[in-house]
Amino acid sequence: MSVDTIRLISTGMWVPTKVLTNADLERMVDTTDEWIVERTGIRERRIAGDDIGVVEMGYRAAQDALEGAGMEPSDVDALIVSTATPDRLLPATACDMQAKLDLHSAVAFDVWGACTGWLYSLNVARGLIISGQIETALCVATEKMSAITDWTDRSTCVLFGDAAGAALVQRSEEKGRGILASYMRSDGSLAELLHRAPSSAQPIPIDVAELTARDGYMRMAGREVFKNAVRSMCEAVDAVLDQAGVAKGEIDLLVPHQANIRIIEATAKYARVPMERVWVNVDRYGNTSSATVPVAIHEARQQGAIKDGSLVLMVAFGAGLTWAGTLLRW
Ligand code: ACO
Repeated sequence: MSVDTIRLISTGMWVPTKVLTNADLERMVDTTDEWIVERTGIRERRIAGDDIGVVEMGYRAAQDALEGAGMEPSDVDALIVSTATPDRLLPATACDMQAKLDLHSAVAFDVWGACTGWLYSLNVARGLIISGQIETALCVATEKMSAITDWTDRSTCVLFGDAAGAALVQRSEEKGRGILASYMRSDGSLAELLHRAPSSAQPIPIDVAELTARDGYMRMAGREVFKNAVRSMCEAVDAVLDQAGVAKGEIDLLVPHQANIRIIEATAKYARVPMERVWVNVDRYGNTSSATVPVAIHEARQQGAIKDGSLVLMVAFGAGLTWAGTLLRW
């Protein structure tokens, strides 16, 4: 049977219970609740404890998705994991998660696309399913941004939080339902705008004190990232709508990467989607990198904002720089 596209048959999420509010941050760095809310829209974020890493977080979101679909781990052919904050660099986070989930007969691998990673993973799954190589994929985004955040740097530490999201995808039996268009881009010449050491090119210093002072944390040129974020998400909006032959304004729900409310508003305005049809949870979770979109999709489904037949546009951008868009008819 020829397969046109894929659909999301189930979604899941997991967030830590510990809440870090703007008032908490006021006690940690030179900032105010007013500045954070006005400049970013963030009021609080979730922080995972030292006892939990991204494998466990992603495992919980994946279990949620599997339970939602009433499926067994043995039904999954490919586990594709997006994370910018792996517990360890070898093996792939997906392989550690595969063992934990007991996915005997699956292939497991990571996709590195920073905040765009989960949309990349969906598109990889789409290719594998359409080409007939697999039937069911589990796409997981799991991010412990708190572990790579410099908690003394007010320009970044107010922005990020921890979360995991997941979706099970299979071929769509119904023409016109499922993913209608996908678009993926990157521009490595802008890598310095948002990056993190150490790497094998810049090895971890032997002196741990030096490591704390210099390395391991994310560094960001916020204003430049902001401009590129708006430009690239608008480009992704145009690309997927053109591909699918859908006009701006026909979108039932816009699910943008949750980095900053001002970036979300600019993208929504460009896509001609009123804010009441935009999923926003950046106020509650902050930027959880590639987990923002699957978490938002899961919440939107649970709260009835995505119904059968809804036309949903997802767009994301992130370090790389990377950006992507996915249009789907639920
Ligand atoms: N509290 C108070 N003041 C602050 C804070 C803070 N937390 N952070 C910065 N400021 C100050 C700055 O020092 C600056 O002061 P100055 O004028 O005296 O120099 C002033 O506020 C303005 O700083 P800007 O950087 O110009 O502020 P801006 O309005 O651009 O907001 C922000 C900064 C929120 C970082 C914004 O640029 C942004 O959201 N950028 C995009 C970031 C993003 O989305 N990153 C994620 C990428 S996705 C991924 O892959 C992880």
